[in-house]
Amino acid sequence: MIQFLLNETPQAVENCSPNMTVLEWLRTKMRQTGTKEGCATGDCGACTLLVGEEHSDGQWHYKTMNSCLLLVGNAHGKHIITVEAVTRGMHLTPEELHPVQRAMVECHGSQCGFCTPGFIMSLLALYINHEQYPGQKAVIHALGGNLCRCTGYSPILKAAEQAYEYERSQEPWSAVAKAFKQTLNQQSTSNTPSLINGQSNFLLPQSLNQLLTLKANHPEAHIVAGATDLAIEISQQLLSPKTMISVTQTPELTEVIETRSQFTIGAAAPYEKFIGQLCEHYPETAELFERLGSTQVRNGGTLGGSLGNASPIGDPAPMLIALGASIELQSLEGTKILNVEDFFIGYRETVLAENEVITKVIIPKRSANLTLACHKVTKRFEDDISTVCLAIAIEHKNHVITSVRLAMGGMAAVPKRASQMEQQLRGAKFEAQSFTTAGEYVSQDFQPLTDVRASEDYRLKVTRNLMQRVGLEFCQQIPTSLRIAHASL
Ligand SMILES: Cc1cc2nc3c(=O)[nH]c(=O)nc-3n(C[C@H](O)[C@H](O)[C@H](O)COP(=O)(O)OP(=O)(O)OC[C@H]3O[C@@H](n4cnc5c(N)ncnc54)[C@H](O)[C@@H]3O)c2cc1C
Ligand code: FES
Ligand code: FES
Repeated sequence: MIQFLLNETPQAVENCSPNMTVLEWLRTKMRQTGTKEGCATGDCGACTLLVGEEHSDGQWHYKTMNSCLLLVGNAHGKHIITVEAVTRGMHLTPEELHPVQRAMVECHGSQCGFCTPGFIMSLLALYINHEQYPGQKAVIHALGGNLCRCTGYSPILKAAEQAYEYERSQEPWSAVAKAFKQTLNQQSTSNTPSLINGQSNFLLPQSLNQLLTLKANHPEAHIVAGATDLAIEISQQLLSPKTMISVTQTPELTEVIETRSQFTIGAAAPYEKFIGQLCEHYPETAELFERLGSTQVRNGGTLGGSLGNASPIGDPAPMLIALGASIELQSLEGTKILNVEDFFIGYRETVLAENEVITKVIIPKRSANLTLACHKVTKRFEDDISTVCLAIAIEHKNHVITSVRLAMGGMAAVPKRASQMEQQLRGAKFEAQSFTTAGEYVSQDFQPLTDVRASEDYRLKVTRNLMQRVGLEFCQQIPTSLRIAHASL
């Protein structure tokens, strides 16, 4: 049985397909149709809801997620808040509106209204997580995963600000969530929460030992983390796994530990849990993470999912390879640690054995003279998948490049190091021209595909241009203002 809180009502779900998303469950089983289905692929944000969970400080924190990507099993123990509760949750009469709703009405932020429930939920998350108006950049960031084809966004951005001009509302959800969690905690913890429907199962191990035992007993099972990739395979490609094992509630896989020498990031820790900490240490990675999907996607997606998916266009892999990160795999037979670049062996193929699970990603902290750059080239700035992704980390001494790790995504069947370009740089003078020269060797490293995103020629040319840019950036020949202008294109 899977238990969660829907607005103020506890739910115990048993007879439900493990493939079902919370969106489908809400609309078809609960007949709550305020949450809309636009794309069903995590791209439009119409299905956005708030998902609350208890943090180690005992407080409940609420974040936006796409309900079209949230499998019902992954809702266990969570507090789901839908658009229907936005007003009801304040104990107001239905005629009275929450400040974000009132602002959307008064600023004319809605025309056809299809996207509006999703915008309301994203604005609500912003409102409850920021006591003061956080500024337009934060609003744009929060709304990056919500598309509107009618209003042109300006009224919506205005509404985000105007909501702060009314008397501030206090959300009453924490008390009901705490009571629900207390009841859940009093129940037996020996059983693995699960959804079993005919031949298919969804299992939620609550410890690493439970997880590894389940994987040993069900080697064919699909591991599920945030399901931002897997839910799409289920809904669009009709994948119907017999058994799914969710790692989202295995504490050892969701923790993030920072020591003097490294970050150890649980394979099932959502991006939003660690990117603040990581980007403080490696500010050069901030834009890459900011542009990885949308806020909703980063609130669910994980490094374990990105690496496990082994997509050649996943953004984290080139950066992890450039930083010399390693990946930990575990099974009941033991633990293996290997370099991220050695994990991939072919298109969507990895060395992961059937009984193994990715448990951690270990990222070393920077050496004293490390210089790093990460670039993602896409058709649009927000919420788009990479055409080409490049990450390069070098060290230099006495104007000579002493070490280099250069990795690329979107250029081969796997995220891969550029060994020829690296060789050109190693021992070369630390000057912009060395990077431009190394870029000329790109076709010795890669023979990229022509596909819907770009042609082979474009990918090769953009790499040469990126190498030239990296050289100018590293050698301080690009003024900061130009760098900022380029980044915001
Ligand atoms: C709208 C949208 C935009 C996106 N934009 C980007 C983007 O800009 N850049 C980008 O890189 N990605 C993007 N993605 C892809 C996706 O969000 C990431 O790949 C994410 O990191 C996947 O993590 P997850 O936890 O959701 O994985 P899941 O979907 O849960 O799993 C993905 C795969 O990994 C396996 N897996 C998961 N965890 C483990 C584990 N611990 N051990 C072994 N196997 C495991 C699963 O079995 C599955 O095969 C986007 C996705 C969507 C829907
Ligand atoms: S329906 Fe479009 S993001 Fe979920
Ligand atoms: S108001 Fe119509 S899509 Fe946004």
